[in-house]
Amino acid sequence: MMVSSTYEWHGRTGPLTLRLGPGVFTPTHTTVVMADALEINPGDVVLDVGCGSGVLGLVAARLGAARLVGCDLSAEAVATATENARLLGLSDCSEFHLGHLFDPVDDVEADVVIGDVSGVPEAVAEVMPWSSGGPTGAELPGEMVETLGPRLKQGGRLYLPTGTMQAEDRLLEVARKVFGEDNMHPLVVREFPLAPTLARSPAVQRLVDDGVLAMRRRGSRLMWRLTVWRCTRP
Ligand SMILES: C[S@@+](CC[C@H](N)C(=O)[O-])C[C@H]1O[C@@H](n2cnc3c(N)ncnc32)[C@H](O)[C@@H]1O
Repeated sequence: MMVSSTYEWHGRTGPLTLRLGPGVFTPTHTTVVMADALEINPGDVVLDVGCGSGVLGLVAARLGAARLVGCDLSAEAVATATENARLLGLSDCSEFHLGHLFDPVDDVEADVVIGDVSGVPEAVAEVMPWSSGGPTGAELPGEMVETLGPRLKQGGRLYLPTGTMQAEDRLLEVARKVFGEDNMHPLVVREFPLAPTLARSPAVQRLVDDGVLAMRRRGSRLMWRLTVWRCTRP
């Protein structure tokens, strides 16, 4: 694997030094909040879809998960996550696969799905070094929720980030249809200032003006809100 950088993870179970191959997603505030929200029981099978560097699944493994399966559309991410697992001594209990959403893992039935696939609109992805989750950012995570099916056991938990940096209402509508409102619990809600490069982008501004992104103004800054949901399979 070609290492283009390392990243010091100070989130849950850290500090850890992670390798990052070229173009692999660098963990963000969302990653840190997601890691804090995870509830892992000893022996859990964990499926990390859109695993990037593997960080969230590897945190789950360090918290006691028995088996970790990660997948990502980026070959560099799959190689990076595999290498990070090796460096952390977790190769024996982990595997990482290449492909779209659940396509490469059709034999897995997980207790926990970490559902942190790209969920920002194209206009945001054009400005930041992130991949797009579709025109409004709700399309790819919405497809993930709709196609989850038997990959999540009955009684199993999906940890799903949603936010006002995407068309959050559309994604939540899909999640409510699949899980039912009573099975969805917000575990953490946090607000962050939108990066200045994004706040200045005319395309992002248009999404805010059109009401697709429901961001709040605080003084001269735009604030975006992140929620991490526990969605339990009925
Ligand atoms: C927001 S990043 C999260 C990565 C990691 N969970 C973290 O917090 O560092 C989203 C990840 O989803 C991956 N991704 C994008 N489209 C995908 C798809 N269609 N199927 C699977 N993974 C995808 C990206 O390559 C990226 O690694």
